[in-house]
Amino acid sequence: MPASSRRRLLVTSALPYANGHIHLGHLVEYIQTDVFVRFQKLRGHDCVYVCADDTHGTAIMIRARAEGRSERELIAEMRGAHLADFAGFQVDFDHYGSTDSDANRERCGAIWRSLRERGLVVGRDVKQLFDPKAGVFLADRFVRGGCPRCQAADQYGDACEKCGATYGPADLLDPVSTLSGATPEVRSAEHLFVRLEPMQGFLQEWTRTSGALDPRIANYLTGHFLGEPLRDWDVSRPAPYFGFEIPDAPGHYWYVWFDAPVGYIAATEEWAAARGGSWRDWWHRGGPHEPPAEIHHFIGKDITYFHTLFWPAMLEAAGLSLPTKVRIHGFLTVNGEKMSKARGTYVLARTYLEHLDPASLRYYYAAKLSGDIDDIDLNLDDFAAKVNSDLVGKVVNLASRTARWLEATGLAAVYPDDGGLFAQAAAEGADIAAAYEACDFARAMRLVMAAADRANAYVDAEQPWKLAKAGPAAAGRLREVASVALNLYRQIVVYLAPVLPTLAAETAALVGGPIRSWDESLRPLVGLPVAPFKPLARRVESSQIEAILAASLATSGTAAAAPIPSPRPAGATAMSADPADPLAAEPLAATCTIDDFAKVDLRVARILAAEEVPEAKKLLKLTIGLGGDVTRTVFAGIKGFHEPAALVGRLVVVVANLAPRQMKFGLSEGMVAAASGAGAPGVYLLSPDSGALPGMRLH
Ligand code: MSP
Ligand code: ZN
Repeated sequence: MPASSRRRLLVTSALPYANGHIHLGHLVEYIQTDVFVRFQKLRGHDCVYVCADDTHGTAIMIRARAEGRSERELIAEMRGAHLADFAGFQVDFDHYGSTDSDANRERCGAIWRSLRERGLVVGRDVKQLFDPKAGVFLADRFVRGGCPRCQAADQYGDACEKCGATYGPADLLDPVSTLSGATPEVRSAEHLFVRLEPMQGFLQEWTRTSGALDPRIANYLTGHFLGEPLRDWDVSRPAPYFGFEIPDAPGHYWYVWFDAPVGYIAATEEWAAARGGSWRDWWHRGGPHEPPAEIHHFIGKDITYFHTLFWPAMLEAAGLSLPTKVRIHGFLTVNGEKMSKARGTYVLARTYLEHLDPASLRYYYAAKLSGDIDDIDLNLDDFAAKVNSDLVGKVVNLASRTARWLEATGLAAVYPDDGGLFAQAAAEGADIAAAYEACDFARAMRLVMAAADRANAYVDAEQPWKLAKAGPAAAGRLREVASVALNLYRQIVVYLAPVLPTLAAETAALVGGPIRSWDESLRPLVGLPVAPFKPLARRVESSQIEAILAASLATSGTAAAAPIPSPRPAGATAMSADPADPLAAEPLAATCTIDDFAKVDLRVARILAAEEVPEAKKLLKLTIGLGGDVTRTVFAGIKGFHEPAALVGRLVVVVANLAPRQMKFGLSEGMVAAASGAGAPGVYLLSPDSGALPGMRLH
């Protein structure tokens, strides 16, 4: 590619919170970004993909305390898990940093100084509820109490779910801290704010004219926020807080959303430093580097304001480059509904990987993502059908039914007449590339599958299997037909390479070597050897999907696993939400009929023996008695929260007719009922009133 058309792109995905595992919802974003980056690299551009763990904030602090370890220990463990999940899905960062790094502390300090110098930082007292027992200030969602308007009990500190009133946590009747159960006190503390009002003109201009935002988003922001005075942004938290202490304000810490986006720059810095370069080559306006770097942020719609108001304001104040594009995607639903632990559709990345090929999900997401902010639905039946029909039936099938005819002879020495098929698909490359560039991967996939349909129609018409049977007389024609088919196949794989890196690598081994450039779609290969064909893609079976749902149900909330605080309350706006709020209430499951419920045989049982399973992080092995001499073995995910010895003799509630499950450590023949969530770290066993006897049935 001529140097003049070579672009420099810095691409980011939002930094995942270190307090939760990667799930299929997150992967919408990381897969989308990774496809975009692989596409740019294949086009020959200078493209760098950076990301990091978002490590600071109250939620991490509280969870580390609950687990009796340091925050740094916790975030180190989560980092390992995140990296493994991303690698499993072939999300290939050039650098993965952490917001808890020296580079980030330094970049935050420099931006802070710019804000100060421009007179944009002001201090003001804020009244907040303080938990005297836990010794922390409470975010709104860590407080519950009566609604000051309708008196409904047990409401959150910001809004009433019964009557819809909004209020401050200090207005709650009989407030209780959900961390410790203590009655919180109102305490006043100084917070530091960034004044956004002086930036209003700039933000309006940038929103409307930079082209960084989809017009729908730009209109929304102009209509809803930029039309009225901008509120100051509260960017500090008083101690104790897990984060960076503000250098010129001891005892004050930068709020997690202040240091998180700066992590983009810090990650760039670490990446560049390792190559003898500088972050300034990417983030400084009008630097010596030509062409100037483009900055592309991929984010979910829930964190729009942070990336379209606060972040550009920070960059502008610091004189750094503004985003070229903020690419906003919608949320994942599974079978048309929000991911749900109760339905088993809250699927962790690693659970998926235990059962299915990452390529299937990468392809399905690509086929669904069209570059807008609409939510995308993972309909599991459609997922299986589409992967099987497109990837297996159309693409891989093309190679599997033609490559073997060429093992002995290799590709034809001259590309045969194919009726214009290769040329047509080559000409469409520009369209396909434009679709990738616009993040309309769905359109790119449609164009590619149409090419695959034409190629398969060619094979159906030429019937190479008949030529093969016809013996030596037809051998020349067979070689021609197979050479056409295999070339059409490889051309399609070039177009799919950003989505399906493994398929690209396997195809490289079959014929033609590594796919290094998009332009390989322009010219057919001739005279090259063809390796023995190995099956390239596996079908998605409904049994695998069922296994994923069952495993997800088992690892979420019930007695099978320690809880993972979910990332954020449903529907909360980015402005008001504490982004690291582990209290995100799990919505109630869909109604079940009395007949459904009657199928569950809940019994009182006595724990007769309890022992550690040394190899399992979360499991205790329990022997339980169900009355008479009926006993069962159950593996329960309560290790760490219960001493085995203290459990013996205790009455619990058991699902007695749960289908036995083969686990790594043995057969589990039931489930012990336990509760978790609501922001508390523990797993709580349920017990009947005293006097109950083993074997009693619950109704
Ligand atoms: N830590 C912040 C981002 C800081 S960026 C400076 C955060 N973390 S997150 O882990 O909650 O989310 C990471 C990204 O995944 C966000 O862009 C978020 O929108 C996206 N998603 C999280 N759940 C999602 C779905 N269910 N569906 C689609 N995207 C989702 O936000
Ligand atoms: Zn109310």
